[in-house]
Amino acid sequence: MTLEEVRELAGADMAAVDTLIQERLRSDVLLINQLGLYIVNSGGKRLRPLLVLLAARACGYDGRDHQTLAAVVEFIHTATLLHDDVVDASELRRGRETANAIWGNEASVLVGDFLYSRAFEMMVEIGSMRVMEIMAHTTNRIAEGEVMQLLNCHEPDTTEARYMEVIRSKTAKLFEAAARIGAVLGEQPAEVETALAAYGMHLGTAFQLVDDVLDYSADAETMGKNIGDDLAEGKPTLPLIHVMREGSEAERALVREAIEKGGLDHIEAVRDAIESTGAIAYTARSARAEAERAIDTLSRLPASPYRDALHALAEFSVSRSY
Ligand code: IPE
Ligand code: IPE
Ligand code: MG
Ligand code: MG
Repeated sequence: MTLEEVRELAGADMAAVDTLIQERLRSDVLLINQLGLYIVNSGGKRLRPLLVLLAARACGYDGRDHQTLAAVVEFIHTATLLHDDVVDASELRRGRETANAIWGNEASVLVGDFLYSRAFEMMVEIGSMRVMEIMAHTTNRIAEGEVMQLLNCHEPDTTEARYMEVIRSKTAKLFEAAARIGAVLGEQPAEVETALAAYGMHLGTAFQLVDDVLDYSADAETMGKNIGDDLAEGKPTLPLIHVMREGSEAERALVREAIEKGGLDHIEAVRDAIESTGAIAYTARSARAEAERAIDTLSRLPASPYRDALHALAEFSVSRSY
């Protein structure tokens, strides 16, 4: 199944989610509407809401709450992006200037808070204590992940284990929650819920590993984000950690300094070191292994087009170029 076919399968649900997103964004405060609509309508992939919808359908759910919860998950994702672009001092997102570049850091942080809290209002309307428990825990872990990553910045001795802990928290946790909520809505037994949660966790980990590859190997036009943001911030992602382990003495010294100082002065030399140590291939292999583990867990679900779509999303997470 292609991503296009996946989107078609979830098309009616997704249209309802988009309507909800537009409606529930509204506020009497003009700046919230402006900034909120700007980021929400700038063309994100909507992968996390898609995951909620598909997981719920794959579990036989046929109500409407999955649409609201899909919007909730996209609001939380969008809030983390607004905050992340401030922290990372990023200027390009979804092919456009970031909100912080246009309205400033203060506005981005505060509208991010609005989106977070609106998401929790919507969840309370659904009234499932289990879902609220999952999302409260998830957002808390995302925050921990972002703070852990902040501590790793400019730290060239960051280990692969520590990096993996960061990406599982900051990124994979929300994918995990999205898939898990589908099982909760479908009132599945604990083992199916656990399987779907593991699926989301592995998929999200693969997704971030690939994101960290693309930050060195893609181009801004395709990605819709500036390339080299990670190096500029002195972020020790897996490609750099690999060079720090496998590089020559000179390569290690170069990357150590690049991480410590940040900036893009040595990006070409760093790229060469990444190339000569096979760091991109190493990171991509790790992503592939995570995607395979995600796919393996799907055998716990009954065969259906929705299960096939979940399989296709795991494939997309590693084959993607944007
Ligand atoms: C960006 O996520 C943040 C990461 C976890 C890498 P996406 O690539 O899903 O962002 P959009 O929503 O499609 O813009
Ligand atoms: C993802 O990290 C941020 C969150 C999931 C909160 P990145 O900083 O790598 O994401 P991009 O590259 O800015 O999208
Ligand atoms: Mg970022
Ligand atoms: Mg990135």
